[in-house]
Amino acid sequence: MEAASSEASDQTSATTRTETSAPAHSAAAGETAAGREAEAPALRPHAEDAFAEELAALAAQDDRPRPERWLLSPWAVATYLLGGTLADGTVITPKYVGPRRIVEVAVTTLATDRALLLLGVPGTAKTWVSEHLAAAVSGDSTLLVQGTAGTPEEAIRYGWNYARLLAHGPSRDALVPSPVMRAMADGMTARVEELTRIPADVQDSLITILSEKTLPIPELGQETQAVRGFNVIATANDRDRGVNELSSALRRRFNTVVLPLPESVDAEVDIVARRVEQIGRSLDLPAVPEGVEEIRRVVTVFRELRDGVTADGRTKIKSPSGTLSTAEAISVVTSGLALASHFGDGLLRAGDVAAGILGAVVRDPAADRVIWQEYLEAVVRERDGWKDFYRACREVSA
Ligand SMILES: Nc1ncnc2c1ncn2[C@@H]1O[C@H](COP(=O)(O)OP(=O)(O)O)[C@@H](O)[C@H]1O
Ligand SMILES: [Mg+2]
Repeated sequence: MEAASSEASDQTSATTRTETSAPAHSAAAGETAAGREAEAPALRPHAEDAFAEELAALAAQDDRPRPERWLLSPWAVATYLLGGTLADGTVITPKYVGPRRIVEVAVTTLATDRALLLLGVPGTAKTWVSEHLAAAVSGDSTLLVQGTAGTPEEAIRYGWNYARLLAHGPSRDALVPSPVMRAMADGMTARVEELTRIPADVQDSLITILSEKTLPIPELGQETQAVRGFNVIATANDRDRGVNELSSALRRRFNTVVLPLPESVDAEVDIVARRVEQIGRSLDLPAVPEGVEEIRRVVTVFRELRDGVTADGRTKIKSPSGTLSTAEAISVVTSGLALASHFGDGLLRAGDVAAGILGAVVRDPAADRVIWQEYLEAVVRERDGWKDFYRACREVSA
């Protein structure tokens, strides 16, 4: 989905740019289109737009040295990600909740000649961190290539506008640069999502880009040289047979940073509550504070099933096939809040999250259902103060 939308927006921006330079283009039409864009708020604004004020405040107060073409110093980028309070009292909200060192290493890598690979199981905020890093470093998180088994080389290098190619032959005008090529030319951060899903030979087109910092265009006898400030952030899932698929030549161009699962229940509840609050605000859902106990139960269930043992370490349980990541807990709670707000009294209760939990846990209708029933009867049923939760889960599981 991301791929489709980012490709679509790439094309739109390319078209807009050409049209603006074309003499036949009417200014009035341009104004209407731009006006419409300004009026209707985006369903999900890019990080650089959603947090424009924080980024501006950081830039204004940041007196540390900035690498060439960076909008902020590495210190300010780390503060943007981890949160903090600036000298003038501006509060920077934490985007990533996790070890500070991880963020420091990631940011520092981007200032070197090595690219950054964010690795981890699904839902550990790889995409999220990548977007915010690009936003803070380059002010633009949209130079994005979505990796899939079908990602073609053109998505990493360049393609052609066939109408122009046929009409005028190969020329710079007919060339359609990839997000990576644009990042090279402008000294920006390019993002490659799910790198290890991309076929090996297509991945390898990144080798020259990352080692020589140049992109040859043999059809024109030209090349695009990367400008200082260019770098790449890739993400990869270490459950997809993963890094094994990354050729060693390519792996050497990357510094790998592993994003861990949240270390404690408290940390995970904090992440979920924060994100749900943010998402909920954009959907006009009720505030979280009253629902925080319900969030704790969702997170506890997810962690126990993921770890294969209860929180007190006493009871072994089987793990279902789904990932049950923090990201999934966030979506279960968000849907629960929506239910509570549209069909309940606005307070998040067990009945609002039960169906979501069931959906997340039972991926394989046969095996997972048995695991879930066992967990319900052996663990949830016996737990003090969880009667309402047990009943709600029983109701949706029947
Ligand atoms: N440690 C964390 N700090 C902040 N947000 C997190 C954390 N872990 C997960 N999330 C949230 O989980 C959601 C999904 O993360 P995402 O970047 O899509 O995961 P991944 O790309 O690793 O599969 C995001 O909304 C993100 O905010
Ligand atoms: Mg991702």
